[in-house]
Amino acid sequence: MSSLDKTIEQLRAALSASPDNIALRQHLAETLLQAGYGEEAEAQFRDALKLSPGSTELLIGLANCYFQQSKNSHAMVIVEDLISSRDTPAAAHLLHARLLIRRNDIKFAVAEYEQAIDMDESLRDEALENHLGIAPDDESTSNEELVDGRLRAGGAAGSPIDASEKPTIDFTGVGGMDELKEEIRLKIIYPLQHVDMYEAYGKTIGGGIMMYGPPGCGKTHLARATAGEINADFISVGINEVLDMWIGQSEHNLHEYFETARRRSPCVLFFDEVDALGASRTDMRTSAGRQMINQFLAELDGAQSSNEGVLVLAATNAPWSVDSAFRRPGRFDRILFVPPPDSPARAAITRIMLKGKPCDNVDHEMAAQKMEGFSGADIMAVVDLTIEEKLQIAMKKGRPEPITTRDIIAAAKSLKPSTREWFASARNYARFANASGLYDDVLKYLGEA
Ligand SMILES: Nc1ncnc2c1ncn2[C@@H]1O[C@H](COP(=O)(O)OP(=O)(O)OP(=O)(O)O)[C@@H](O)[C@H]1O
Ligand SMILES: [Mg+2]
Repeated sequence: MSSLDKTIEQLRAALSASPDNIALRQHLAETLLQAGYGEEAEAQFRDALKLSPGSTELLIGLANCYFQQSKNSHAMVIVEDLISSRDTPAAAHLLHARLLIRRNDIKFAVAEYEQAIDMDESLRDEALENHLGIAPDDESTSNEELVDGRLRAGGAAGSPIDASEKPTIDFTGVGGMDELKEEIRLKIIYPLQHVDMYEAYGKTIGGGIMMYGPPGCGKTHLARATAGEINADFISVGINEVLDMWIGQSEHNLHEYFETARRRSPCVLFFDEVDALGASRTDMRTSAGRQMINQFLAELDGAQSSNEGVLVLAATNAPWSVDSAFRRPGRFDRILFVPPPDSPARAAITRIMLKGKPCDNVDHEMAAQKMEGFSGADIMAVVDLTIEEKLQIAMKKGRPEPITTRDIIAAAKSLKPSTREWFASARNYARFANASGLYDDVLKYLGEA
């Protein structure tokens, strides 16, 4: 029996005599942990926490048990909680650093490790420093550089986000939406192209556009075309993809997207489903959503790095769920309603979608009139169906048959517009939650303004 095991035995005996002695239980738990009995240590820390709920020392002990047993997310929950509190103990930063290493976030780990030893020099750990690439006695090289060196060498860094594309469509590929296109030009394209002019008039550059409206009406399509219009890169970020069960990781992911966009400028950075930010997360801690929003706002404000050349667009079907802090000047200060296409726009969309297909004098205007309430996506479905039926006939006859106006109208009749449902819920918000006139355009569209 090792001396540690002997100590454990004695502590157990002592504890059975006075089970409410917290200090004793904590000592036993710590010794168990030290001896590598993670599971038993965990049980003891839990019991001790029942006697002294919220004790920082016990919480760190418990987190260390989790860490030892590779229950990383459990450990992270505790650590993140401790870090967000006022008097964060150095040990929490140290454990955070270790957890970040497991997650390959070396840069953040270095910062947390340094924070820990700043607060408590005795926590210095040479093995950990080696792992982090920190040379303790070499003041000539900053840690920042060392970490970057690792990154450049393809070391243990989080994988860079490579989600950018060069769109092949521009505004000519977007039917209708003339007002929206003009808004986008004025608000974000011209400022990018004529920086001097805007500066001469003292007009500040920055801020983004948020689009909202029923599904399938071209929000994403228009965002992509905006990038194509100025030959910029396009990065589409689904907020749900950014959200991560790891606390702190969501913010990190978001930061990476902004950083990628800054490197790729000029670049359109498009956030889809921004409402997901406000929605309750399946996370273990409610404040996590708040932190993510704060991170987003800091990035938007360019608090740490300039957003020059980064055009920020966002889209949502549920603008009422979007945090109002997003709407402040310099952020998403233009909120635009993207309605279902009107009749001329539907004609334009049909024309775009049938381009290059065998057609027989199609009357696009007439077809468009038969598609009241159809979204762009609905029109796409109509065109798909038309083509499918035409193909079947062509197969039977053994020769291609051109598409006619009647074919399109017949297909449209068999499909239903998908935008009604959205308006059913939007109507209520527009009527009863329209304090700042945010939904005036919706009311106008509904003929209620
Ligand atoms: N104005 C338009 N011109 C040309 N095509 C359009 C237009 N609007 C929509 N479309 C077509 O409809 C499809 C669906 O549109 P899109 O994905 O942009 O809708 P959305 O508003 O982003 O919908 P969601 O809210 O569901 O994300 C697009 O892929 C595009 O092909
Ligand atoms: Mg979309």
